[in-house]
Order: sequence, then structure tokens, then C-alpha cells
Amino acid sequence: MDGTDVPMLVPAEHLTSGRVLEGRHAAQLGAEPDWDTFRALFPLLRTDRYLAACSQGPLATPVEVAVRRFMDSWRTWGNPWEAEWMPLVRTAAAKFAHLIGAPPESVGTTASVSAALATVLSALDFRERRKVVVSTLEFPSVLDILVALRDAGRIELDVLEPVAGDLPLSLVDRAIDEQTALVCVSSVSYRSGSQLPVREIADLAHERGALCLVDAYQSLGALKLDVADVRADVVVSGTLKYLLGTPGVALLYARPELAAALEPTATGWRAQSDPFSVRLDRLDYADGGARFEAGTPSIIACYAADAALELLLTIGSTAIEGRILRLARAFVEGLQARGVVPLGPTGPGQLGPMVAVPVRGDPYEWQYRLAREERVITSARGKALRFAFHCYSTPDDVEACLDILDRTQCAIRA
Ligand SMILES: Cc1ncc(COP(=O)(O)O)c(C=O)c1O
Repeated sequence: MDGTDVPMLVPAEHLTSGRVLEGRHAAQLGAEPDWDTFRALFPLLRTDRYLAACSQGPLATPVEVAVRRFMDSWRTWGNPWEAEWMPLVRTAAAKFAHLIGAPPESVGTTASVSAALATVLSALDFRERRKVVVSTLEFPSVLDILVALRDAGRIELDVLEPVAGDLPLSLVDRAIDEQTALVCVSSVSYRSGSQLPVREIADLAHERGALCLVDAYQSLGALKLDVADVRADVVVSGTLKYLLGTPGVALLYARPELAAALEPTATGWRAQSDPFSVRLDRLDYADGGARFEAGTPSIIACYAADAALELLLTIGSTAIEGRILRLARAFVEGLQARGVVPLGPTGPGQLGPMVAVPVRGDPYEWQYRLAREERVITSARGKALRFAFHCYSTPDDVEACLDILDRTQCAIRA
């Protein structure tokens, strides 16, 4: 597939009806996933084993085609903002909403997860309740933004330290009190790879009148997340990891009743109900997730996200999660048999798509060496080498990774 057959200036109704992946792939994948067919959509997997979706997902051919469709539309039409580009942005957001079981209008696009967080925080009133609870399992950006707000005198910060890589619920329970405005938690820690008990944490937050913001960047695309089930107030995620898109766009869900009450001060023209009117008396925010937007989104990244989401929705989260957790479990059992203890807890409900293996020496050296010598692409972080499974991964990948750990002796044994 080279993308030259892709129609240009796709009518908006085609974009919203799930026909972006029309034809070959959707038909081949069908209701029961054909994993070999899915795997064949990733050219890189013909030569390399790919275990780095916790850092960046590999390029799928339908995503490449979508990026070319953007180039075609730009080359041919110049500025098809209303005819094609903005409807596509809304479609991509709607697909994300569908993925997490949210109403389409409850999702907005932002430039990054960092931008999404800053926008949400700019809308919260910390005068009555000043405290934000967070742990060091969160991605640095989350902590950076919160520390900046603390140092500016806007919030008090309670930073929890994990116990043996875990965030015990009792710790969170003790931290949330009547002064707490917000709890920020990842669905899966970028560092330990473990799932965190977001649903229970959201319940604790709500019991005490606080809000819960879930950073789902390290799980969406790999694990199921339904906002009705998790009861999160805000969910943020970028698209470039397990969601298989490119850098350049992030997505933000806000519970509709909460969104209606929030007025971000980190804002811009796209957050307004009429983006082109200038209101000097009072801003008139758009409804739903759109009120957390700011400036022009990365259209090219939205094309990629749209196609990638279509691909994942075609397979379905249940099948994807099942396969990934089976593979990750087999890897963990192989590690345990070798006396290697992954960084985070790996019990039922705790194991995520990524397993962080503590290694001897410099993990980045191992990452480059495995990529160069073994054509196994992993992702180093901290003192660990991260092995991230997706539904294109195979039992053979698991065996090959364990075999490499045996041969190189890079993993630290307990
Ligand atoms: C869990 C998590 N949150 C946030 C981020 C940062 O996202 P962004 O670069 O879009 O701000 C990352 C990036 O790796 C991440 O893994």
C-alpha cells in the first residue's frame, strides 16, 4: 500500500462513520482478531522485535497512509480547515471518547499531556481546598507542574513514596483528607510498569470531596479503561505510545458536569464557543472537552491518531488487553524462573503491558546494544530496561527476550 489511492478531501460523514480503515484491514481483522494479519501492518516487525511502545509505538501502514492523506489534502487544497481538517480532529477525539466509553463531546485535543494538565490545573479553585496528592510513580511532567504550582503558593503538595515499587491504597487513603482538592494518578506507572488502583483511588477521592485525574498515557491502547467504571473526573493521554500515533497531540476527557464548571485560565481561541469572536467582558467557553483546548492542533498528528484509533477500535480493547496481559505474564514467569524480580508488583490486576527489568550497568547501553546486535528494540528508563508488549507481540518475542537475558546476563538477579 503506498497511499496514492487514498481519496483526497474526504467528506466529513466518511470520517465519522468509521470508514477510515475501510476495506482490507477491517475485513481481514473481523470480529476475531487475526494477530498475524495485524502484525503484518507494521513494517518494522518484519526485521525487529519491538518492545518499546511505552516510549513510542511502531508505525502501522494505515497510520502512514493517513499521514500521507494529510499531505495530499495539504498539497491539493492548501487550507481545507472546515472541509476536512477540523472535522477530522473532532472525529479523532470522538474515537478516543469511544475507546474510553465517554460521550464524544467530552473529549478535547491538546498539544501534549503536560499542556492538558496545566490547562486543567489552571481551572481548579485551590482557595478552599489547597492540597494535591500525587506519588513519585507519576511521570516527571506531572510532578514538575505541581511543584511549580506549590512554589508559586497556589497549592500544597503531598508526594507519596511507593513501597517496594507499589502504591498501597492505605497510603493514599491516609493522604486524602478534607483539604484535598485533587489526586493525580497514572493508570500504569511509566517507571514500574505496574497498574495502579485508579478506580479505588477515585472512589477514595470522591468520598472526601476531592477530584481524581488519571494519566492513562501508559495504558490506553493496551488496557481497557472505561470512564464510567473508573469514575475518573479527568483522563489524559497522548497518542504516540500504545495508541500507535505520532507525537503532537494529546487527548483530554473531562466529566461533563465538571467541565461545565471549569474555566481554564491557560486557554486560547479554540476553547471559546465562538473561536473568532473577541469577548473583552467575559469569556464564553465552548461546551465539553473543547473548553480545554487552546491553539491550532497538530493536524498531521490528528490524522495519525485517527487512523491508529480506528485500527485499535476495529480489534477491540478486550481482545487487545487479553493478549497483552498473557504475553506480559509469560515474560514475568520467565523472569521469575531466572530469579529476576521486575521493578513493580506483578500480581493479578497489577501487571501492565510493560515490565521493567533491573539491569547491571547502564540501561541505555543495553538498549542500544540489544537494538544493534539483536534487533530487539526496548526502552531504558532509570536503572531498568523496559519491555513493553502490545497485541502485535508474540509468544516467540517473549522467548527471544528471555533468551537474550540469558545470553547477555544483563538482568540483575535477586
Ligand atoms: C505517563 C505519562 N504521562 C505524561 C507523559 C508526558 O507526556 P507529554 O510529553 O505529552 O507531555 C508521558 C510521556 O512519556 C508519560 O509516559
